Amino acid sequence: MQSQNDWLEILVHCKENVKTRIRPHLKTLSEPQPDLGKGAGGDPMKPVDLAAEKAIVEVLQQSGTSFTLISEESGVKEFGEKPKQCYVTVDPIDGTNNLVRGIPFYASSIAISAKPALSTVYAALVTDLVHDTTYTALKGKGAYRDGEKITSATRESLEDAIVGLDLNSYKIKEIAPKITDLIQKTKHIRHFGANALELCYVADGTTDAFIDIRGKLRTTDLAAAFLIVKEAGGTVTTPAGEALEVKLGPEQKIKFIASGNTQIHKTILSLVKP
Ligand code: IPD
Ligand code: CA
Repeated sequence: MQSQNDWLEILVHCKENVKTRIRPHLKTLSEPQPDLGKGAGGDPMKPVDLAAEKAIVEVLQQSGTSFTLISEESGVKEFGEKPKQCYVTVDPIDGTNNLVRGIPFYASSIAISAKPALSTVYAALVTDLVHDTTYTALKGKGAYRDGEKITSATRESLEDAIVGLDLNSYKIKEIAPKITDLIQKTKHIRHFGANALELCYVADGTTDAFIDIRGKLRTTDLAAAFLIVKEAGGTVTTPAGEALEVKLGPEQKIKFIASGNTQIHKTILSLVKP
């Protein structure tokens, strides 16, 4: 069984291998891509998604650990003799559309947990594959960006805040009325297109909150960033203000509000209709 620090080392090796393995794919994105069918999360798979997943699994196997993989691409797979001793929840590429279209904002996300449950995640890494910036967290030990401790923002007023909001949905007519009061009171709204990384922006105070109440985001995208935001001092709850208790699985979806501090979180909760 790996210690927390062993995990950190393994996760860093994973991200280095992802960077190496996706490099050739970045050069061929303008060429026709083979049809690989849909991944376990329900989206069409791209060769670059699979290359990133393979890179992560390769390093995990080399480390000699037994684990259950929960991936947006290959779904749930067991490795080693004691696969239930830990769960590795992976979004190999978060922001694949950005990557394919050349928008420089995409990441890789890996979370280690004791059970297939969000609340049991104890080690996490999200790496910005464009800017080579890596966010990590260990439960109870804080969150870090490239090895430097990070803390979430203390800004309380929505008039000064930058708030991320994912509105990508064909059900916008149902969702919009729930958040118009919030949008009305917020000066700066953003959506960059890779939610794991956008959550890390909340963790290091680059932005003040990130909201995704579509019911469309997979837990594979959230698992690692959830721990990173919490360890940085931020708050993550359901739109009703409850603790996020959810199973980790490629098809499992989640709605959440993540904020830099409890005061702005309260304000946002009061403006969002659950
Ligand atoms: C997507 C990104 C995007 C969000 C989508 C996700 P993917 O992740 O996080 O910002 O709007 O719902 O699916 O599919 O590139 O891993
Ligand atoms: Ca993905």
